[in-house]
Amino acid sequence: MEKFFIIANWKSNKTTDEAIEWLREISKIKDHNLKIILCAPFTALYPLKLLIEKSGLPIKLGAQDISPFPDGAYTGEISARMLKDLGVGYVLVGHSERRRYFGETDIQVAQKVRMALDFEIIPIVCVGEFNQFINILNKLETKELAKIIFMLEPPGAISVQTGPVGQGEAESVQNVVEMIKKMKRFTPASNFFYGGSVKSHNITNFLSQPEINGVVTGTASQNAQEFIKMIENAAKI
Ligand code: PGA
Repeated sequence: MEKFFIIANWKSNKTTDEAIEWLREISKIKDHNLKIILCAPFTALYPLKLLIEKSGLPIKLGAQDISPFPDGAYTGEISARMLKDLGVGYVLVGHSERRRYFGETDIQVAQKVRMALDFEIIPIVCVGEFNQFINILNKLETKELAKIIFMLEPPGAISVQTGPVGQGEAESVQNVVEMIKKMKRFTPASNFFYGGSVKSHNITNFLSQPEINGVVTGTASQNAQEFIKMIENAAKI
């Protein structure tokens, strides 16, 4: 039976060779009942898709962003149709780093959610705090809400924003649970993930909470051995 989701967000890291090497290391652990989603850079998606298909690895591909527009004259954008073609089943939308460095707005987030859903890609909508959640909620329809996943990522808990890479402090489990309970009242049909400095030593604290359907791990997921430890620990819950 499938249990929890564990999402690896590599951020803007890894060449195709490095991506393939990571996947080869991960392939050593096959027996788990977790749902693993790998959000890789666009450039690594195709080689990863080929390798996943060939090896039968129980890993689904995700993207880290998606165009708010369909195919067309939008230079530099990667459309939902292109992602679907690469076997992408999930996409992070509105990550705090996209908002912070690229000025992404709630309106764009809602457009991206719509594009993803049109191509049956599940959007993982990132929200840093309650007001942002409400703003996005107001831009979506009830039937859309049932299909999306919200990822609570308090900005102070993202590891690279609180000090040296990988040294961040996760939000307290109690705070996360309280915030998710509050948000869930507005959209009971949605699933909720937590993201922010999730590592092998704290992953079970989050996943053992019934309110938390999955975790997103960024910096720590880039190291295959650390990611394997996370999977092994989560599989014991
Ligand atoms: P982090 O990133 O694990 O490096 O804090 C989390 C995220 O990208 O959501």
